[in-house]
Amino acid sequence: MEKTIRLSNGIEMPQLGYGVYQVTPEECERCVGDALSVGYRMIDTAQAYANEEGVGAAVKKSGIERKNLFLVSKIWLSNYGYERAKAAIDESLRRLDTDYIDLMLLHQPFCDYYGAYRALQDAYKEGKLRAIGVSNFLPGRFIDLASNVEVPPMVNQVETHVFNQQWKAQEYMKEFGTAIMSWGPLAEGRNGFFTNPVLEAIGKAHGKSVAQVALRYMLERDIILIPKSTHIERMKENMDIFDFALTDDEREQIKALDTGKSLFFDHNDAETTKMFMGWRGLV
Ligand SMILES: NC(=O)c1ccc[n+]([C@@H]2O[C@H](COP(=O)([O-])OP(=O)(O)OC[C@H]3O[C@@H](n4cnc5c(N)ncnc54)[C@H](OP(=O)(O)O)[C@@H]3O)[C@@H](O)[C@H]2O)c1
Repeated sequence: MEKTIRLSNGIEMPQLGYGVYQVTPEECERCVGDALSVGYRMIDTAQAYANEEGVGAAVKKSGIERKNLFLVSKIWLSNYGYERAKAAIDESLRRLDTDYIDLMLLHQPFCDYYGAYRALQDAYKEGKLRAIGVSNFLPGRFIDLASNVEVPPMVNQVETHVFNQQWKAQEYMKEFGTAIMSWGPLAEGRNGFFTNPVLEAIGKAHGKSVAQVALRYMLERDIILIPKSTHIERMKENMDIFDFALTDDEREQIKALDTGKSLFFDHNDAETTKMFMGWRGLV
């Protein structure tokens, strides 16, 4: 659990954390409390998940010193543009009940993200945010943004799992010193993930589960991971990936599972843009 990734501004971010997408506001405090109790120290939430308050409450209850935790949140589209994003950062700080957020991301690459990014930069300089970045910025839009801002994103959180491995995107990110963070590291179970025969066979050889093999593969690629589960046993299982290593042959077998395509939606597709325009008012 101690393994960290050094971000481009020198701060250390735990490489493995816990994500709370689709965790209801009611359940969030219990889930984050469980995650902290089994050893997670990095929590990934977002304004759009409507559960930042639950994260803040669980952190307070845990008694863990704030400096030993790493909190990540994301600004939603309805809060883009400079002024709105500036206010939305303060609202997240209030909901999380904290003086600073360790990493704040722009959740989606649509609407006035340049204005919102300038608000991130200013809040970073003021010390409200320890690191800043983006999410779902596929290479084209990522390169555009990273080339035209004062502080390039320290992290880009994109869909990354064995079926969509993001090798090329990771290379582009490296050019700007940006670390890659996976969302959906277990593919949310899609595409027969949990019964995939390649992952099952490799797991058998190491006495590990499909989830552990897939997470280990990405851990070895320096990808930041935030698997989600509402079950404490699975939270523990997803953390237990530091005591084995894949062989070259196993890595090649997993590499061959890459389809290079999203299992959810392609952010380069016009229909996806239309869908997000409909979701602008979500928060
Ligand atoms: N930036 C973005 O746009 C974006 C989008 C999606 C997600 N995210 C972030 O990424 C995090 C992770 O992604 P995700 O939640 O979409 O999906 P995920 O972590 O790939 O998969 C979660 C699913 O897998 C199940 N699961 C977890 N561990 C398991 C295990 N060991 N064995 C069997 N089943 C297991 C969970 O079920 P149970 O909960 O029932 O155990 C849940 O249904 C999110 O929580 C969120 O923080 C970000």
